[in-house]
Amino acid sequence: MAYPAGTIRAFQYGLAIFALTALIGLVNATKIIGNLDQNTLLTHLHSGTLGWITMGVFGIALALFARNGSAGPAVSLSALATAAYVLAFWSGNFYARAIFGTVMLATIFGWWAWVGYRSSTEGFGKISNPKIAMLLGLTTLVIGSTVGVIIQIQLALNATTPQTGNLIGAHASAQVGGYLVLVATGIIEWYLIGERRTTGGIVQSVLLFFAGMSLALGQLFDIQPLLLVTNVLQIIATVMVVIRLGPAILRTSWAAATGARHAAIVPLYLVIGVALIVALVQQVIAANGDISRVPQGLIHSLDHTFFVGVMTNTLFGAILFATADRARTWPWADPLIFWGLNLGVLSFTAVLVTVGSSTGAAAFSHPVAYTAPIMGLAALLGIVTFSLRLMEAPAVMRSPVPA
Ligand code: HEM
Ligand code: HEM
Repeated sequence: MAYPAGTIRAFQYGLAIFALTALIGLVNATKIIGNLDQNTLLTHLHSGTLGWITMGVFGIALALFARNGSAGPAVSLSALATAAYVLAFWSGNFYARAIFGTVMLATIFGWWAWVGYRSSTEGFGKISNPKIAMLLGLTTLVIGSTVGVIIQIQLALNATTPQTGNLIGAHASAQVGGYLVLVATGIIEWYLIGERRTTGGIVQSVLLFFAGMSLALGQLFDIQPLLLVTNVLQIIATVMVVIRLGPAILRTSWAAATGARHAAIVPLYLVIGVALIVALVQQVIAANGDISRVPQGLIHSLDHTFFVGVMTNTLFGAILFATADRARTWPWADPLIFWGLNLGVLSFTAVLVTVGSSTGAAAFSHPVAYTAPIMGLAALLGIVTFSLRLMEAPAVMRSPVPA
């Protein structure tokens, strides 16, 4: 399948912004300049979740929905809005964050409305499993980002309340526990078994949508039974993912340098992620809803399981599929990227759970300094290699008859 030019551009912008995420991550892991301030940490966070992950998701939404020559939203403007918001986080200026956060929300809303419109013209009762997952994922993104802008405006007006902490928890839960899981499961299904519509696929997405919503509402209103409902919904949906994609995963060659192995490893992280969310919910309940008493290492482990294990594998897989018809620049890099990223994220997240967060540690004194860089260097190698391949011209179909 030929990918739209907009998809290729979205991947290029996403990779460029991901370089910033990975570089800040490397500095934070090694602590070569000491501990990072909150503005830089929020830049690391949102350059990763918006600049890398969401730009990539926009690109894939375009590839899924913009068939038959229909144009999608403007990719370059979306990238500009994203870069502006990431820089606003870095500046530490609350007014800039509120303004550019609102612009970012409008951009996200535009993509969601377009995907909703395309789904309605095709027929909500007919669209494939990956499209439903993308539509519900972007719906959750709109809800989670609206909460984000409300927090941002409260901060700008110096009008935070005791509820602001709950809003931040609800924002993070909707985005990570809802949006990311939905889009990732839809995208890997597309790559592993193709586009089809089945009852199992629809039920799985609906369960994941309600899981994200109940996690967010449980955090927002401190309703602990909702957190337990989330656990049940997520466990059922994750078992469905493993059963439904299992045969395709078993057929995947772990040695072949294609996007398939990046997609096939994602369910492993979904299983680890759900186990970590169950552990997190237990800790939150034990702490009587006070998230500040939950170990930071557990939260950061959960973050990277989803941001790198689930989403970066999904997007690297998508880029490999999109560039399959181009020259494979630096073929030696593929195994280093795949194994480095995965062994890196597994060892880093294991250290965060067992030893705890490296926050406050001295340079090179915490095991995070020796595990996270494996992941960060593999990510940087991926960024350079895939950027070079995206610049190559697609192979032209040769005429079977010589001219
Ligand atoms: C328009 C989009 C977005 C806006 C306006 C936004 C806004 C915010 C704000 C204001 C905060 C709190 C910052 C502070 O502590 O000062 C925050 C934290 C956070 N955001 Fe976002 N964000 C957006 C998108 C996302 C996305 C797409 C994700 C994940 C996929 C995400 C994940 C998080 C997480 C994990 C936190 C940290 C929560 C904590 O401190 O425990 N955000 N965001
Ligand atoms: C999409 C990509 C990524 C996202 C969204 C992300 C997000 C986050 C978040 C939310 C935190 C917690 C910050 C805090 O203390 O408030 C964090 C910490 C951290 N990140 Fe990332 N990250 C990403 C990729 C990476 C990469 C590629 C590296 C590479 C080295 C990395 C290394 C780290 C390290 C070392 C910490 C500190 C963990 C600890 O010791 O507690 N991250 N990241």
